[in-house]
Order: sequence, then C-alpha cells, then structure tokens
Amino acid sequence: MKRAAVCLLFLLLLLPQKGYPSDYSLKIVTPVDSTYTQGGQTISVVSKVQANAFSALKIYVDGGLQKDLGDIDGKQYVCSVVSVHPGINTIMVSGIIEDGGVVSRQVKVFIISPISAKYNTAPDDYTQYWFHSSSSTCFTCHQMQPQKTDLYPVKHSDSSCYVCHKDITDRKYVHGPTAAWACLMCHDSNADPKYSTPTPPEKMCEKCHGDDIAAWQKLKHQHGPFALGMCTTCHSPHGSNWPFWTRKFPTDLCLSCHIGQSGNHVITFFNGDPHPMRGHPDPRHPGRELSCASCHSPHASPYRFQLFGDYRHPRTFCRGCHFTKAMPY
Ligand code: HEC
Ligand code: HEC
Ligand code: HEC
Ligand code: HEC
Ligand code: HEC
Ligand code: HEC
Ligand code: HEC
Ligand code: HEC
Repeated sequence: MKRAAVCLLFLLLLLPQKGYPSDYSLKIVTPVDSTYTQGGQTISVVSKVQANAFSALKIYVDGGLQKDLGDIDGKQYVCSVVSVHPGINTIMVSGIIEDGGVVSRQVKVFIISPISAKYNTAPDDYTQYWFHSSSSTCFTCHQMQPQKTDLYPVKHSDSSCYVCHKDITDRKYVHGPTAAWACLMCHDSNADPKYSTPTPPEKMCEKCHGDDIAAWQKLKHQHGPFALGMCTTCHSPHGSNWPFWTRKFPTDLCLSCHIGQSGNHVITFFNGDPHPMRGHPDPRHPGRELSCASCHSPHASPYRFQLFGDYRHPRTFCRGCHFTKAMPY
C-alpha cells in the first residue's frame, strides 16, 4: 500500500508543473529568471514554500550542491546566499519531500564581468535585474528602507544592508568605505533605479579621490579606460583578493584587454623568454609585486605609453630599477 502511494507520488512528480499537488508548492522569489546583474560574486536565493511540505531545500548552481538547508519546518520563506561566476549560472532549488520525492525549480541568471571579453555584455534575451526597484515582500521580515545609522554604522551588523549583503566584505582587501559599511556613500536610495551608481563611475570616485584624479588628468599620456572614467572596470568598488582591490592581479588585468601583449616587448631572452612580469618584488614600489603596472601607469603619465620614464633612453629607463639600491643588478 505504502509502496503504491510512493509510486503514485513519483508519477505525480513527473507530471508537468501544473500537475503538482498544491501542497508541495515551491517558487523561487529571487533571483528572477533570464535577468542579469553587474559584478556580484554572490547572489541571494529566496524561495517561497508551502509550510511544512518539505523536510529540506537543496540549492545547486550549475549542478553543484551549494546549500543543504534542513530545519525549515513552519517556514514559508527560505533565505540563503550562493556563489556565482561570470556568465550564465543555472540556479536550481529542490524541495525534498519526507518520503523521497523532489520538487525542483530553476532560474538562469547572467553575471557580467567588465574585464572578460566573453562576459562583458549579457545575451540579448536577458534583462537587467534591479532588485530594489521591483516590488518584493521582503519588507514583512526585513528592514528595506535605509536607516540613519546606515551612513556610518558603528558595527557592521548595525547596517540594514548587512543581513542580505554580508558577504560583500569577504575579500582579502576591502575598500575603506565598504569596510566601514558606509554603503550609502556610493549607493543613493533616491537614485533611479534605487541604489544605482553614476556613469561614468569616476563621478563617484571623485568625491573622495578628486586630488589623484585631477593630478592624473593633467598628464599628457592618459590610458584609454582611465580617460573614459571607467575606474570600476579595473577596481572593484567593494574589495578583491588583490591590493587596491583590482579585479585581477595587475598583469592578468592588463592582459585581459591587451590580449596579444605577451610581455615580450621589453626584452626577449635568447630562449624566447620575456622580461619577468610577476613573481619578484617591484623595485620602484616597495611592498608591491612586479607587474605591468611597475613600468606603465594604469592611469596616466607624462611619458609615452604611460611609462614612468622615457624608454628611448634605455640606460636611464632600465636603471629606473636595475643597478639601484632596491635591485643592484
Ligand atoms: C565606492 C563606492 C561603493 C561603495 C562604498 C559600495 N558600493 Fe556597491 N557598488 C558600487 C558600484 C559602482 C557598483 C556597480 C557594479 C560594479 O561596478 O561592480 C556596485 C554594485 C553593488 C551591488 C550589485 C553587484 C555586486 O557587486 O554584488 C551590490 C549588492 C552592492 N553594490 C552592495 C553594496 C553594499 C552592501 C555596500 C556597503 C557594504 C556597498 N555596495 C558599498 C559602488 C560602491
Ligand atoms: C517570513 C520572514 C522573511 C521573509 C518574508 C524574508 N526573509 Fe530573509 N530572512 C529571514 C530571517 C529570519 C533570516 C535570518 C536572519 C539573520 O540571519 O539575521 C533571513 C535571512 C536572509 C538572508 C541572509 C541569508 C544567509 O544565509 O546569510 C538573505 C539574503 C535574505 N534573508 C533575503 C531575503 C529577501 C531578498 C527576501 C524577499 C524576497 C526575504 N529575505 C524575505 C526572514 C524572512
Ligand atoms: C532583504 C534583503 C536585502 C536588504 C536588507 C538589502 N538588499 Fe540590496 N539586494 C538584495 C537582493 C536580493 C539583491 C539582488 C542581487 C543579489 O541577490 O545579490 C540586491 C541588490 C542590490 C544592489 C544591486 C542593484 C539592484 O537593485 O539589484 C545594490 C546596489 C544593493 N542591493 C544595495 C543595498 C544597500 C545599499 C542596502 C542597505 C541600505 C541593501 N541593498 C539592503 C537584498 C537586500
Ligand atoms: C566615501 C569616500 C570614498 C569613495 C566615494 C571612494 N573611495 Fe576609494 N578610498 C577611500 C578611502 C578612505 C581610502 C583609504 C582607505 C583604504 O585603503 O581603503 C580609499 C582607498 C582607495 C584605493 C587605494 C589607495 C591607496 O593608495 O591605498 C583605491 C584604489 C580606491 N580607493 C579606489 C576607489 C575607486 C575606484 C572609487 C570609485 C568607484 C573610490 N575609491 C571611491 C574612500 C573612498
Ligand atoms: C586599466 C585599469 C585601471 C583603471 C581604468 C583605473 N585604475 Fe586605479 N589602479 C590600477 C592598478 C593596476 C593599480 C595598482 C598599481 C600597482 O600595483 O602599482 C591602481 C592603483 C590605484 C590607486 C592607488 C594609487 C597608487 O599608489 O598607484 C588609486 C587611488 C586608484 N588606482 C584610483 C583609480 C581611480 C579613481 C580610477 C578612475 C578615475 C582608476 N583608478 C582607474 C588600475 C586601474
Ligand atoms: C578594459 C580594458 C583595458 C585594460 C584592463 C587595460 N587596458 Fe591598456 N588600453 C586599453 C585601451 C582601450 C587603450 C587605448 C587603445 C589605443 O589607444 O590603442 C589602451 C592603451 C594602452 C597603452 C598605450 C598603447 C599605445 O599603443 O599607445 C598601454 C601602454 C596600455 N594600455 C597598457 C596597459 C596596462 C599596463 C594595463 C594594466 C595595468 C592595461 N593597459 C589595462 C584598454 C585596457
Ligand atoms: C620592465 C618594464 C615593462 C613592463 C614590466 C611592461 N612593459 Fe609594456 N612597455 C615597456 C616599454 C619600454 C614599452 C615601449 C617600447 C616597446 O614597445 O618595447 C612598452 C610598450 C607597451 C605597449 C605599447 C606598444 C605595444 O607593444 O603595443 C603596450 C600595450 C604595453 N607595453 C603593455 C604592457 C603589458 C600588458 C604589460 C604586462 C604584461 C607590460 N606592458 C609590461 C615596458 C614595460
Ligand atoms: C620596474 C622595474 C624594472 C624595469 C624598469 C626593468 N626591469 Fe629588468 N627586471 C626587473 C626585475 C624585478 C627583474 C627580476 C629580478 C630577479 O631575477 O631577481 C628583472 C630581470 C631582468 C633581467 C633578467 C636578469 C636575471 O637575473 O634573470 C634582465 C636581462 C632585465 N631585467 C633587463 C632589463 C632591461 C634591458 C630593462 C630596460 C629596457 C629592464 N630590465 C627594465 C625589474 C625591472
């Protein structure tokens, strides 16, 4: 008898969506299918479930299990956060029924990466997701309006953004205002869409780095993306695993746009090896690692190719590092 019931249940589960018994309803509230977002390394997955219908919810990204949420008895909303990667992410939520059945739903989201030639624009059939500008039911349990304390929270958890965005500071190097959870310094709740940031992003950085920017703008040779004010193409506004919160290690960052540039241009050894481009201390910038940015300013310089000196005088140029106190060879 029990077996027959289980078989019946399985048969029901195989039916198309409409055929599910309403007792096992499961809906992904956020994210929304076929939408894209700018940047993020994590995304919230909130499901609305029939209370007490499931013993657990499992969340998969591209088939890999990321969350196994038990203890959901009585809950109607199950909130969690998963890691995502640039490109299309297939997020599947599976509700586990006590006697072995499974109800699954899935959505596809596209994450943009400004420094990936492959993923810097979303496919045509994806629309931009502005969560805070769409209507949601989250406010029944969460504070959704910015509070006075959000300007300069004393503790991270004082920020009303913290509950949902706490992973944003999980990086090795975190940018000052983000580390302080002063999110509203850049995300204006009166902006349209809400919390959107200005383009070009330089306008936002200028508020605190105006002196640096003005000094660079006076220099004769300006780097393409800097001249366009695209600071956040190279710098994450929040943080990253590299100093100065660059989106990759500088050499890899440069090579993601200058794809043909192997680095062989400075000098090529007899065996074809180029001048070192990483893995040694940078003699010009104590504490940093040698990279393309050791010779080229990523922003601007008075010299051609944004170099730190005139390369047509190899002796002086090379001696910017070699035969110096920092590197006597
Ligand atoms: C220095 C300015 C700045 C600060 C401070 C800042 N942000 Fe952002 N944020 C941006 C910009 C610019 C974007 C647009 C996407 C990008 O360039 O990566 C963004 C995107 C986002 C996104 C969407 C994509 C992603 O990266 O996840 C979230 C969520 C977000 N910010 C939350 C926060 C929270 C929470 C804080 C406070 C802890 C914060 N931001 C602090 C500038 C800032
Ligand atoms: C029925 C109440 C309820 C509703 C509705 C609700 N949440 Fe939650 N949410 C909670 C509770 C309780 C927590 C745990 C609080 C904590 O960790 O401090 C939580 C935690 C979260 C977290 C953190 C999860 C984690 O693993 O760190 C996120 C993200 C989140 N909610 C997003 C949302 C979003 C987005 C919505 C609307 C689509 C929403 N929630 C609606 C009750 C709710
Ligand atoms: C109830 C949970 C919740 C709270 C509280 C919350 N956010 Fe969000 N936020 C989300 C979700 C969900 C998204 C969609 C992207 C994602 O899943 O990370 C989002 C996206 C964003 C984005 C990207 C633009 C957009 O609208 O999609 C920004 C910027 C942002 N949040 C800033 C903030 C700031 C600043 C605060 C605090 C003043 C805050 N959020 C509080 C859940 C929340
Ligand atoms: C609200 C003020 C504020 C805004 C806006 C702001 N920053 Fe910053 N930034 C700081 C502070 C404070 C520091 C120094 C503390 C630290 O190292 O995080 C800093 C440091 C930096 C550094 C490291 C500088 C160094 O010499 O160590 C970089 C890179 C940077 N910011 C990039 C940006 C970019 C790009 C933007 C625009 C998206 C931006 N910042 C917007 C306040 C701000
Ligand atoms: C092409 C990529 C790129 C762009 C565009 C860019 N930066 Fe940078 N920036 C870097 C790299 C790489 C470093 C680290 C240099 C190093 O490792 O020596 C850096 C360093 C910095 C620093 C630290 C200063 C220092 O000591 O070198 C600040 C401040 C900064 N950037 C702000 C900005 C601002 C503001 C903008 C936009 C107006 C911007 N950057 C645009 C790549 C970039
Ligand atoms: C977002 C893409 C992007 C990134 C990342 C990037 N660049 Fe560029 N770079 C450009 C563009 C666009 C130009 C202007 C194209 C031109 O004038 O030929 C340029 C021009 C240059 C030039 C001048 C070339 C010439 O022939 O005048 C140099 C040198 C250079 N970049 C070095 C770097 C270095 C070093 C880095 C890493 C710190 C870097 N770039 C990162 C896009 C990028
Ligand atoms: C040791 C100093 C040094 C380092 C490190 C360095 N460059 Fe250069 N770069 C030069 C010099 C000198 C020139 C001008 C003469 C030439 O082309 O050899 C130049 C020219 C360039 C040019 C413009 C001319 C061309 O060949 O297109 C680009 C673009 C460039 N470098 C990108 C990079 C990138 C990307 C890296 C990191 C992989 C890098 N450079 C690392 C010294 C350096
Ligand atoms: C930004 C600083 C910098 C500049 C400028 C620079 N180099 Fe270097 N160079 C280095 C570093 C760091 C190493 C690695 C040192 C080591 O092996 O310990 C290196 C290694 C070398 C080596 C290999 C030496 C060895 O022992 O393996 C040669 C040859 C060389 N550089 C030639 C040049 C020439 C020629 C120029 C001028 C066109 C130049 N370099 C400009 C930093 C620089």
